[in-house]
Amino acid sequence: MRGLVYKVKASGFYHMMHYHYLCSMAQNEEVFKKIISHAKEYGFVFQSSEIYDGLSAVYDYGQNGVELKNNIKQYWWKAMVQHQENIVGIDSAIFMHPTIWKASGHVDAFNDPLIDNKDSKKRYRADVLIEDQFAKWQDKIDKEVEKAEKRFGEAFDKAQFLATNPRVLEYQAKIDTASKRFYGAMENNDLADVKKLIEELEIVCPVSGSRNWTEVRQFNLMFSTQMGSVTEDSNTLYLRPETAQGIFVNYLNVQKTGRMKIPFGIAQIGKAFRNEIVARQFIFRMREFEQMEMQFFVRPGTELEWFEKWKETRLNWHLSLGIPSAKYRFHKHEKLAHYANAAVDIEFEFPFGFKELEGIHSRTDFDLSSHQKFSGKKITYFDPELNETYVPYVIETSIGLDRTFLAMLSHAYTEEKLEDGSERVVMKLPAVLAPIKCGILPLVAKDGLPEKAREIMDTLKYDYMVQFEEKDSIGKRYRRHDAIGTPYCITIDHQTLEDNTVTIRDRDTMQQERISVDKIDEILRKKIRS
Ligand code: GAP
Repeated sequence: MRGLVYKVKASGFYHMMHYHYLCSMAQNEEVFKKIISHAKEYGFVFQSSEIYDGLSAVYDYGQNGVELKNNIKQYWWKAMVQHQENIVGIDSAIFMHPTIWKASGHVDAFNDPLIDNKDSKKRYRADVLIEDQFAKWQDKIDKEVEKAEKRFGEAFDKAQFLATNPRVLEYQAKIDTASKRFYGAMENNDLADVKKLIEELEIVCPVSGSRNWTEVRQFNLMFSTQMGSVTEDSNTLYLRPETAQGIFVNYLNVQKTGRMKIPFGIAQIGKAFRNEIVARQFIFRMREFEQMEMQFFVRPGTELEWFEKWKETRLNWHLSLGIPSAKYRFHKHEKLAHYANAAVDIEFEFPFGFKELEGIHSRTDFDLSSHQKFSGKKITYFDPELNETYVPYVIETSIGLDRTFLAMLSHAYTEEKLEDGSERVVMKLPAVLAPIKCGILPLVAKDGLPEKAREIMDTLKYDYMVQFEEKDSIGKRYRRHDAIGTPYCITIDHQTLEDNTVTIRDRDTMQQERISVDKIDEILRKKIRS
């Protein structure tokens, strides 16, 4: 959980040619820009309040975006609730009693250290400025390794090179020394030393280029608002910065009414709000976003076993979407929060590098015990097998819905040059997540073809999101569906009226096949089943 934990970053018809973009940072940046404009052009994501010049780090999902988002939610919910015997869902309110955030530690510790540059008047997160410097040194190490790999070929021993090359050792020593000092200073809340470190590392403002910094100060990330008409302190509420606390405070309700036996889990999908200062990278870091979280309650002493199980289960969930495993990696937290005894992130390779997509944390009994203390209510479980009463331990899996959306979008975006020299942009989204499952396209808008197409659509629309389109040439309609990731398009032509067959076109291969109308449902079901 950011703010409460400081992590030490360890360091068809056509044959086609694919462009491979993942070559250099500059190219990746270029691709990322294209993905953002594609997301807007095709109704996936819009800047919030755009006609009023936008609201920073807040986004709206358009007609295709909302479908993709709903499909991700459903895919997660099925895996985490529907397919599980011992996990149930809830939907708790965004507003909660303010003491909850005192008990959870968010009022006192959900802070970012901020620093301003006096010349540009820009505000930065001090930890991001410092970690960016670590990343620069790490890049230098990676470049040395790359050069040596080329020079020595098969004989190259990476471990030995990393342990002996003087330049690598020098950069590594810089990272080690500075990170030890930085994380130590953060732990001791020594913000003066954080500022000193920024000065000593000669970090400059990316806008003004100057080193004219203010002091570093802590800034709480929770948004607050007033309930009722009197503006007194007691009426100050927070917009929840995580959905997890809604689960903890409902633990007893669910356990009792659901007659749940430990081990069991409670899952929830919902909005969370954080007053992010460094809001960047499109929907990666937003001020209003959605989380899909699950708290799994276990017997004390078994939590590390469950932690390993959930690590594996969650990684497999990601891989089940058919995205190559090389795009994911675990990042173990070296430094743990006082209440956690294990924590790992699942990172995804976004166009701007590997970044956190999901967190899996062994949170001990911290949250339930703390709510017990602050509320004065007993929050325990009587374990009939052990004949013991205890406060359950918790394993949390917490994934950002918007980040998963961005991961899918950036992985799916593909530019292809076709054999006839033309180009297409195709979103190779997993079929189960695609906004529209099937385009229904009468070849021409006359001769009874639209009527027949609508008849077919009526047999499919109760089970699948399908879209009828009769405008423009068939080629243009195929391209539009490629651009939003529609896995199949069926074309209704004059032969359809004679023998009840259609052509079905596969998005990825662009192959077309003539099939009976009765087969469409079977093909869609096979491809889309989750
Ligand atoms: N309950 C634990 C928790 O909230 P976190 O690591 O702070 O942990 C969990 O957040 C996930 O929520 C992250 O892995 C990320 O996917 C997503 N997330 C966090 N802050 C976000 C933001 N500002 N914008 C979009 N997604 C965010």
